[in-house]
Amino acid sequence: MTKPKKAASLSFSKEVRDVVGRLIWECEEEQSVAPGSNNSVPRLDFVMAQENLSVVLHSQGDLRLENRPVPEPGPNEVLLQMHSVGICGSDVHYWQHGRIGDFVVTKPMVLGHEASGRVVKVGSAVKHLKAGDRVAIEPGVPREMDEFFKNGRYNLSPTIFFCATPPDDGNLCRYYKHSANFCYKLPDNVTFEEGALIEPLSVGIHACRRAGVSLGSTVFICGAGPIGLVCLLVAKAMGASKVVITDLFPERLTVAKELGADFQLTVKRGDGPQQLAKSVEDLLGAQPHITIECTGVESSIQSAIYATRQAVWWCWCLGFEMANVPLTAKAWPMAIAMLAPAWFALRDDQSQLTARPGERSPAIAHMYMGVSCPVRSRNMAAGMVFMWI
Ligand SMILES: NC(=O)c1ccc[n+]([C@@H]2O[C@H](COP(=O)([O-])OP(=O)(O)OC[C@H]3O[C@@H](n4cnc5c(N)ncnc54)[C@H](O)[C@@H]3O)[C@@H](O)[C@H]2O)c1
Ligand SMILES: [Zn+2]
Repeated sequence: MTKPKKAASLSFSKEVRDVVGRLIWECEEEQSVAPGSNNSVPRLDFVMAQENLSVVLHSQGDLRLENRPVPEPGPNEVLLQMHSVGICGSDVHYWQHGRIGDFVVTKPMVLGHEASGRVVKVGSAVKHLKAGDRVAIEPGVPREMDEFFKNGRYNLSPTIFFCATPPDDGNLCRYYKHSANFCYKLPDNVTFEEGALIEPLSVGIHACRRAGVSLGSTVFICGAGPIGLVCLLVAKAMGASKVVITDLFPERLTVAKELGADFQLTVKRGDGPQQLAKSVEDLLGAQPHITIECTGVESSIQSAIYATRQAVWWCWCLGFEMANVPLTAKAWPMAIAMLAPAWFALRDDQSQLTARPGERSPAIAHMYMGVSCPVRSRNMAAGMVFMWI
């Protein structure tokens, strides 16, 4: 049993890296395979431990590493030995602020929702998975067949289970059980780390699909954080002819350029939205067809509105006053298909999209899920700003 750790300050780097870095390191050691053995063959006898070391957030600033019981999967569930879990901006936000919008940490909660792992036990009714399978985990599982579910928009269901969203536990732990239907088998050439990044990638896919990116689209992406970058990758993969991307930090734009952005625009604090919109138009030779807002910053949202031609405005944002909802529905099979042939590589760079366990630099993958509302709203459907102006 490891001594619980209490975060002394809000600085991310040391506390979380110490706690999470050690957990990931230990997971990695546990899953090591016999020398010379085929790497794809798990040593289940060796890896099943009695302890379930978990990263648990008790309240704002109080993050602990503690043991929890190894869960028993229900008939339609699988027990997973976790391998890779991204540290999302929302995990950091819950830790630092104890809440995101109306989701408040009122009881201890395991963090983590960008994850992959290996099946170690299957429920009696599970047919498509078996022990040893490597899977990516879709963190949102609908609890009921409500109106959203019936319309194929289960991600908007108000009662959805969602990893590491109060009160639901996440999977930054050694053993975790999940609905088998929301575990996706990884092809052999997709790594566990890539599997963990399918969640943020699916956000980019969902955004580009909803915004209607297609062959020849011109796209303006506000913000070159992890979400802006996955939107960029997906927009180019979907045939966007030109993409212009903004950020406050030139180094983030350098990464965006390496990933295929046609134009990069450094924004200075205080730049007027109309002025910025004009710069975007000048770069593209016309106003963009589509704008995808990936900063959540008010001035950037304003620029998005001014800049866009028709306009499709997709906005994601995060804050205490905002409605929050996961937006990853139905993008998973496509995300896996994109990774399988190494269509494009998710890279490990300054933007910290991923980090290998041994490097002890768990990623701030992205500020998870928030959604989209320049006006304050508790209504999830209304909170999805998808405006055709
Ligand atoms: N709906 C979902 O499922 C979902 C999932 C993930 C993230 N999100 C949201 O997407 C947004 C982006 O997430 P992220 O993880 O990439 O966040 P991030 O904070 O890492 O990146 C945001 C980027 O925007 C840049 N930026 C800030 N102000 C700017 C401005 N005025 N103009 C241009 N760039 C500016 C920052 O420098 C940063 O690089 C957040 O609002 C987050 O809540 C939504
Ligand atoms: Zn996330």
